[in-house]
Amino acid sequence: IRCQSTSAKEPKAKRNLLDNASNLLTNFLSGGSLGSMPVAEGAVSDLFGRPLFFSLYDWFLEHGSVYKLAFGPKAFVVVSDPIVVKHILRENAFSFDKGVLADILEPIMGKGLIPADLDTWKQRRRVIAPGFHALYLEAMVKVFTDCSGRTTEKFEKLLDGERSRGGDAIELDLEAEFSSLALDIIGLGVFNYDFGSVTKESPVIQAVYGTLFEAEHRSTFYIPYWKIPLARWVVPRQRKFHYDLKIINDCLDGLIRNAKDSRQEADVEKLQQRDYLNIKDASVLRFLVDMRGADVDDRQLRDDLMTMLIAGHETTAAVLTWAVFLLAQNPSKIRKAQAEVDSVLGQERPTFESIKKLEYIRLIVVESLRLYPQPPLLIRRALEEVVLPGGYKGDKDGYTIPAGTDIFISVYNLHRSPYFWDQPHDFVPERFQLQKESEGIEGWAGFDPSRSPGALYPNEIISDFAFLPFGGGPRKCVGDQFALMESTVALAMLLQKFDVELRGSPESVELVTGATIHTKNGLWCKLKRRSNGH
Ligand code: HEM
Repeated sequence: IRCQSTSAKEPKAKRNLLDNASNLLTNFLSGGSLGSMPVAEGAVSDLFGRPLFFSLYDWFLEHGSVYKLAFGPKAFVVVSDPIVVKHILRENAFSFDKGVLADILEPIMGKGLIPADLDTWKQRRRVIAPGFHALYLEAMVKVFTDCSGRTTEKFEKLLDGERSRGGDAIELDLEAEFSSLALDIIGLGVFNYDFGSVTKESPVIQAVYGTLFEAEHRSTFYIPYWKIPLARWVVPRQRKFHYDLKIINDCLDGLIRNAKDSRQEADVEKLQQRDYLNIKDASVLRFLVDMRGADVDDRQLRDDLMTMLIAGHETTAAVLTWAVFLLAQNPSKIRKAQAEVDSVLGQERPTFESIKKLEYIRLIVVESLRLYPQPPLLIRRALEEVVLPGGYKGDKDGYTIPAGTDIFISVYNLHRSPYFWDQPHDFVPERFQLQKESEGIEGWAGFDPSRSPGALYPNEIISDFAFLPFGGGPRKCVGDQFALMESTVALAMLLQKFDVELRGSPESVELVTGATIHTKNGLWCKLKRRSNGH
């Protein structure tokens, strides 16, 4: 990437001058200290014409698993190697913070886990992570099935209407439907609030979407104009953003007050015994308030809830969207999945026990996360000088990166690396049943399920950091099992009742990316009742 201000219309000589000046500045600011690291060179159009992670992939194949990408005076180190990623995320996790990501998210999430400074993070992570106990997840399966049931009932009603007009199929934007479903589930699971967004509109729902939209805009806009004094009063979209934020904050404050007022000692005992199934309205908020007493700081609680709302909503909706996109292009895999659903569930809803038997559906979920990781890039900034190890190919001595270096960990590249996956771009859920040895790759242990005994879903430990849909190390996602089970239930219940086809060609589904990978104009599908009568 050369200079961002270069435009195709500028004369060539002027362009070269700009490029040279930009490169000099880049080298001065960051290049020298990164020694012999390969530098990605590309046109500005590579950056803006299509999602960034596509270009990062091409450069990964060209320059290797650790290279430098310069945006004008700003440089990022792009990492696509499991050995180096493990070093950053797990072995030296506290030598890094979230860098530009924290700058973007702090106004929305405050001191929530994702952008939090290290001290706050240590304290809150200890408190929040136990809230996602296996018995809480067991209680959540009913929330997943109730909400997915509302979605399938809505589709059935629409199909009944269509049938009365002589049709047998409906056309729907399933991305929008999954977004509503995931919002309802996260609201109930995390703070026991029923958005009811599958069936209605409300100011709070609009405010959540408005806030997500702004978070996304900020993550793709390189100049943080919202930090300019008075911007929040002058720029219309900033005014709207603060208005939306206030609506959500008021709603969360009300829920926190209510949880504190209704705190009961009997529930605390049940929570201590992890008896979630017998607690009315079990939720993460209930756990945080009941177990910690009424003295928890309201502002911190609100930041925690807001973080989980944003982190757990779009991500799960995106997994379901891409799972359907991939399945719709593979009718034989839909039939295989439906055969599993029929034999495990028949006409019943999934339970905690039956999720364990829905192996193919689970593999579809993880294979969708492999091909479309959410988010496709993890962002870090070095807090001190760090010596990176050598990767699997070349660069055996690694690089020393100075404090302040910004890093993109390309999960997309790792998940589609030709060095670790056969047919890396193909949708093959079965691949996780076959184990791949490390084939002599120095420092990488290969895939081995015995490293994570009892895990229902493949993870970063089994793959020694070649597959990390939820990150890894101490800052790994707290909601991973929640999201995986939620997606498994929602997908199983959809396939139990309906056949799905894309409305247009797969190529007509355009990709855009902010925090997550989503479609430009929705995932428009044709839905029919299952032909075998389910
Ligand atoms: C962190 C992915 C669902 C809450 C993360 C990270 C990833 C991720 C990759 C690590 C980010 C990093 O290292 O920079 C996903 C995906 C999801 C999902 C793909 C859905 C399929 C959820 C849900 C919740 C949640 C449902 C909450 C209920 C969080 C939180 C963090 C996090 C709080 C920050 C953890 C920390 O820094 O300690 N997520 N997530 N996520 N996720 Fe998730």
